Amino acid sequence: MRRSRCTAVILLLSAICTLWQLGAVAEDVDTSELPHVDSCNYCYECVPMRPPAADTTREAAARMRLHHLRRLSQAYSGVASDGAVAIEPEGIQDVEWANEPDPVYEAAAAASGIPGALTNPNLVHPELIQPSDHDEKQLKPNCTRCTGCTTVLSDMHAEAIETEGLEGIAFMHGKGATNGWLFFGNVAGSNKRYIVKVYCMPYSKLHGRPQTCASKVYMERMRLMMAQVRLADECGANGITPRVWIAPVNAIIPNGTFLGYHVRWYGLWMEEAPGITLHGLFVTRGAERAMFDLLTNKINMTQVVQQTVLDLLTAQCDRHSENVFITPSGALTFIDNDRALGVVTRCGSDSMLLPGNRYHTQLRLGYWGPTMTFYETHGSNPGFCTGPIDMRVVIDYRCYVPDGRIDRNYYPEMRSCMKALARHAVADIMHRYGFTSRKPAEILKRRSRDMLLMGFEAALETSPPRSAPRYMFQQQPPCCNIVMDIKGTPMCATCWKPIIEPLKDSVKDMDSKVVDVLVEPGE
Ligand SMILES: Nc1ncnc2c1ncn2[C@@H]1O[C@H](COP(=O)(O)OP(=O)(O)OP(=O)(O)O)[C@@H](O)[C@H]1O
Ligand SMILES: *[C@@H]1O[C@H](CO)[C@@H](O)[C@H](O)[C@H]1NC(C)=O
Ligand SMILES: *[C@@H]1O[C@H](CO)[C@@H](O)[C@H](O)[C@H]1NC(C)=O
Ligand SMILES: *[C@@H]1O[C@H](CO)[C@@H](O)[C@H](O)[C@H]1NC(C)=O
Repeated sequence: MRRSRCTAVILLLSAICTLWQLGAVAEDVDTSELPHVDSCNYCYECVPMRPPAADTTREAAARMRLHHLRRLSQAYSGVASDGAVAIEPEGIQDVEWANEPDPVYEAAAAASGIPGALTNPNLVHPELIQPSDHDEKQLKPNCTRCTGCTTVLSDMHAEAIETEGLEGIAFMHGKGATNGWLFFGNVAGSNKRYIVKVYCMPYSKLHGRPQTCASKVYMERMRLMMAQVRLADECGANGITPRVWIAPVNAIIPNGTFLGYHVRWYGLWMEEAPGITLHGLFVTRGAERAMFDLLTNKINMTQVVQQTVLDLLTAQCDRHSENVFITPSGALTFIDNDRALGVVTRCGSDSMLLPGNRYHTQLRLGYWGPTMTFYETHGSNPGFCTGPIDMRVVIDYRCYVPDGRIDRNYYPEMRSCMKALARHAVADIMHRYGFTSRKPAEILKRRSRDMLLMGFEAALETSPPRSAPRYMFQQQPPCCNIVMDIKGTPMCATCWKPIIEPLKDSVKDMDSKVVDVLVEPGE
């Protein structure tokens, strides 16, 4: 007894000690003898160093960027990869969209708390987000201990995440299949935690093989994410997606095969979405009651409607329940917005929030599971009423708006942001949101126009870009209320039967070469 208590105390102390070490900065340790991380290739332990206070100023941010860019023989010309013409900031005047005052960006950058953060998407360039000294770096010695790291990265997958108010319902962050290396990140000396995505690691996340970086593609993705935060703000949906910044990372990889590798370029810093993912809730045994309460009582229906409109507006193609966070009070955050605005070819939208989309139908049919089997077997019986259902189906705007239709009744701020988009020239939209090609701007312009003129439901049915067949399904009827049977199985509270359609992932796209005409060339 005594012994185990003692062990517990030791464990606690060591946990505190680890935490302390994470936040520890050079002031606490004598680092005068240690080499600087810049002079090492790998460094297995980097004593963090608080970034100079001056680094948070605009001048410092500009200096850091310049420093990084100066190494390059040719300055970035501002010409996009697809040949789109560079947009001169000064060339654009508009009554409603005032020229971006730098102070707005500066204030936002300062508010981030991340030294050197960029909030103006037009400043994000491919050279910033990749190492520029890969070969030279390898000529340096490996260091067992060093100093000079101003960022502290830690493993995001080391422990399950538990939310205050949802005790006992822990979840693990997904590893992320594709793009970057994901970490928790802190500015040295600060305990505010961010999620940091490092693109352009010279080694692949899965196999550790050397890889080159499609830095233009990633730059584009980062800008798209910044644009969507801005759009959400402007459309009255502040906070519905995590704020993002492109900012310097200067840290060692904390764990795994590449422990000690020095990350020394810009990464994507994100606010951490609070709460738990809908998927995390769904797969946690014993969470059914809490989930039921969250989805039927607590969920912020305004935010569901807002994001539903935004998902159509931005042609969001990756909105599934692992990308939706909910807090104990029902506030929602939608993450992972980089597969939108035309990034996925032949996808007009794929969202669990949009009836007729693949993810929406998938939730209601539960392919390969007992749900589909049940409805296939019993659905045609005379007198059939309802059966088991996935609780997440109540997240459906049709359940929250009068007559189950949005039509032209948008929230006022949503309407005015769409009006502004519909009215502006593609070039203006590109500049304001930092797009380097016309496509995302054209999508925003066309969708805004269609959604305003035709109404939401008609735009969902017809507004381009249109999807390949594999994303398109008949609209399932809404189920707006759930009851649980004695065994705790959720059922629709009213009679409900899905439209059975096979999964279409292998259906060939006969029109794969079709290019949607979104706006006229001169618009
Ligand atoms: N801003 C955030 N807040 C909270 N959790 C996040 C955030 N960004 C990412 N995550 C967590 O990290 C996981 C993987 O991130 P993400 O989906 O962005 O990676 P990815 O490399 O784009 O992979 P994928 O191919 O699955 O999209 C997410 O499922 C989520 O659990
Ligand atoms: C330093 O460490 C890396 C990674 O472990 C290794 O590939 C490299 O050969 C080492 N360099 C030297 C000089 O030992
Ligand atoms: C470190 O990385 C390894 C493999 O890369 C992983 O198995 C382990 O869970 C990670 N976390 C910690 C805290 O070691
Ligand atoms: C729901 O979200 C909206 C929009 O962000 C917000 O204004 C409102 O206060 C939230 N409602 C509740 C009950 O938290």
